[in-house]
Amino acid sequence: MRREYEEHGLTEDEADLDPLVQFTGWLRVAVEAGIDEPNAMVLATVDDDGQPWSRFVLLKGATDAGFDFYTNYGSNKSQQMTARPKASLTFGWLALSRQVQVAGPVAKVPPAESDAYWDLRPRGSQIGSMASDQSRPIASRADLLGRYDELDAAHPGPVPRPDNWGGWRLVPHTIELWQGRTNRLHDRLRYTRPGGPGSPWTRCRLNP
Ligand SMILES: Cc1cc2nc3c(=O)[nH]c(=O)nc-3n(C[C@H](O)[C@H](O)[C@H](O)COP(=O)(O)O)c2cc1C
Repeated sequence: MRREYEEHGLTEDEADLDPLVQFTGWLRVAVEAGIDEPNAMVLATVDDDGQPWSRFVLLKGATDAGFDFYTNYGSNKSQQMTARPKASLTFGWLALSRQVQVAGPVAKVPPAESDAYWDLRPRGSQIGSMASDQSRPIASRADLLGRYDELDAAHPGPVPRPDNWGGWRLVPHTIELWQGRTNRLHDRLRYTRPGGPGSPWTRCRLNP
């Protein structure tokens, strides 16, 4: 599979002028190729000391408005994005020799959209998210399971979205698509939007 994609390449003729269209096409290929967790992406943020941190999160929407993911608003990542509202996302579809990097400012998803996504989640995930004070220490796994059972019993009906859980949206100012090629002569197309959100994208080829 890798060799096949290395031969395909990502030339200016092949790549869409809109990086969102190109990204969506690549994501679809990753899904069809059976890549494990094709919507997993590494979210990088920086803390108050300038220390970068990165971790996987799941993409839940990619439109012209931005790239959405959901998490706990009290978590380390959320604290970092609140203090410094910039982040990057990296997708690695390694079996396809493909990487996509996205960078730009982040902001919370409007509450009504977080509510709509919350309502789609299975009940177990809702209770689990509620039970977790994400990124904070907990004495034992038994404590976590106990908290889950308490919250499960306390909410016999629909589970309301907690205030400390919701989405973040990264509004890309840069999207770079990377396609591995033979002899390390990889294709890199970097798209930027000098005029800001909503303005046309321009692109340039970078040395690999
Ligand atoms: C494949 C994968 C997907 C994940 N998706 C999410 C996610 O969508 N949201 C989330 O809060 N954590 C997700 N996690 C857990 C995070 O990587 C991380 O452990 C957690 O969010 C706490 O990060 P923080 O302490 O830096 O805030 C995922 C982990 C993996 C391995």
